[in-house]
Amino acid sequence: MAMTYDVHQLRAREFPWTERDGVIYLNHASTGPYPARALATVNEINALRAEPHRLPEERELAIAARARELAARLINASPGEIACTVNTSYGINLAARALPLAPGDVVVAPDREFPANVYPWMALERRGVRFERVPCRDGLPDEDALLRALERPEVRVLAVSWVSFATGARVDLAALGRACHERGAYLVVDAIQGVGAATLDVRACHVDILACGGQKWLLAPWGSGFVYVREELARTLEPFDVSWMAMRGSDDFTRLVDYDFTYRDDARRFEMITLPYQDFAGLNASLELIHELGAAAVEAHIVSLVDDIIAWATSRSDVRLVTPRERARRAGIVSVVPHDVRAASERLARAGVAHSVREGAIRLSPHCYNTADEVRRALAVMTGEER
Ligand SMILES: Cc1ncc(COP(=O)(O)O)c(C=O)c1O
Repeated sequence: MAMTYDVHQLRAREFPWTERDGVIYLNHASTGPYPARALATVNEINALRAEPHRLPEERELAIAARARELAARLINASPGEIACTVNTSYGINLAARALPLAPGDVVVAPDREFPANVYPWMALERRGVRFERVPCRDGLPDEDALLRALERPEVRVLAVSWVSFATGARVDLAALGRACHERGAYLVVDAIQGVGAATLDVRACHVDILACGGQKWLLAPWGSGFVYVREELARTLEPFDVSWMAMRGSDDFTRLVDYDFTYRDDARRFEMITLPYQDFAGLNASLELIHELGAAAVEAHIVSLVDDIIAWATSRSDVRLVTPRERARRAGIVSVVPHDVRAASERLARAGVAHSVREGAIRLSPHCYNTADEVRRALAVMTGEER
């Protein structure tokens, strides 16, 4: 696939260490690097924060407002449907604790989810809500079984990772969302392994709540992230944890003790102020880069690199491909099992190829600035054909 932007210029401008350190970084499913502009922004805000008279309160609030706007644009939401959060877990806990669930209700999720999308639901079992893990098929989420589970009236929530952390399998959110919508069940999505790598339209997919940390595919600092809460729910769901800025009048700092327990009518009722603004400023810089490149162009670039890895793995008898082959069923993660995973991982580490080992497979996760040549070299190192 043709590149839609100049990857070499992008590397020189935003990821200069790629040319300097001899590292091939294919580990965005763990931690994304900061683009140069995000690092400069975080440093700038930290320097101002060290001398707080130089950082007015309005600037802090403007940073959060901009983050809501940029995150919303990425998933076709409106800014009022976004709350800034410090990680993915906050959004999933929000869903588990704010959605109206009663004893006897059932929450289903595919088996083998990342634990951030498991324990908050398990915690509901003490309240009589059952959490069921739907067995995988060939190690991947079984979408037919999830659809069948949704036919049971007691199933009130489907909680699912858009892209699985270990296998890279991407579920068909449009089909799952349609089924949830038709049956009056809620769709809650852990999107941290997808957003930034692939494009998503939360409205078209009938997503109710979506949680996403910034630290991986959004190339943003730890401590930044967001949760999408569908407009009608953002107006009506009761926050479980109640922030002092969750209330309508709380923007006016001159009358903070005129208590008025009236929630905002948007997702900010879920936002736990005070936030790490320096991290959100970094998130904003990274999201601006993604928007400048074009989220679709970033996706196309990643697809082309992942396609190369898939083609390589399927051409070899000594490598087993874990990730689904079809483009629609994957995003930026591709997991493979070479003959000796441990030895292959050691070879990669020695050669400076950043990767992860997850659930017995080598997980590679390229992003917008990686090159086809980097991928080719990493694969040759993995099988011992290059050092
Ligand atoms: C699918 C998935 N969800 C959540 C997380 C992390 O959650 P949090 O942002 O709350 O640390 C990860 C990885 O760390 C993940 O792979």
